Amino acid sequence: MARPKNRPRARRRSTGATSPASGSGRKWLWILGSVIVGGGVIALGLLSGSQSQTTSAGVRDPVEIARGAEIYSANCAVCHGTDLEGTGTGPPFLNVIYAPNRHADEAFQRAVLGGVVPHHWDYGKMAPVDGLDRSEVALIVEFVRSQQEAAGIIRDP
Ligand code: HEC
Repeated sequence: MARPKNRPRARRRSTGATSPASGSGRKWLWILGSVIVGGGVIALGLLSGSQSQTTSAGVRDPVEIARGAEIYSANCAVCHGTDLEGTGTGPPFLNVIYAPNRHADEAFQRAVLGGVVPHHWDYGKMAPVDGLDRSEVALIVEFVRSQQEAAGIIRDP
């Protein structure tokens, strides 16, 4: 029991008196700061993650895109164009009005199922497209979104 128990504490107290934020106090501030900043970064990451999930702009499956391109070519390209630039009978999807925040994926499902009353252009109406189920239209959407993203059409400002 020769250890002088209160010696270190006494020393710390004397430095603490001159500079309160020094030593371990400052270290804890740093840790607290990094936890707050780190937490913010993680929260941002989660937020953008969930956002891309709702717009399905996350990682796309090249196989699905390729399958979607086939179905699109067979059913939609005649009017909306093989390159999605539109034709004389249908509008281009590489236009910001078809960005996901203006025409969500569900708009494609509805267009195929029920047709479209013209409201953006002068092409006339789109008739319903027969013979496609929801999963096939979802593949078309994968293809269309991938092409939009490649053209920088992410959202309508
Ligand atoms: C016969 C021509 C034609 C074909 C084939 C066609 N479309 Fe259309 N589509 C149109 C026209 C015309 C419009 C209306 C544009 C407007 O709003 O003025 C349109 C509009 C749309 C819209 C916009 C809907 C909205 O809410 O404004 C979507 C989405 C769409 N088409 C998807 C498709 C898909 C997917 C296919 C293939 C499965 C397809 N179209 C095939 C002519 C066509």
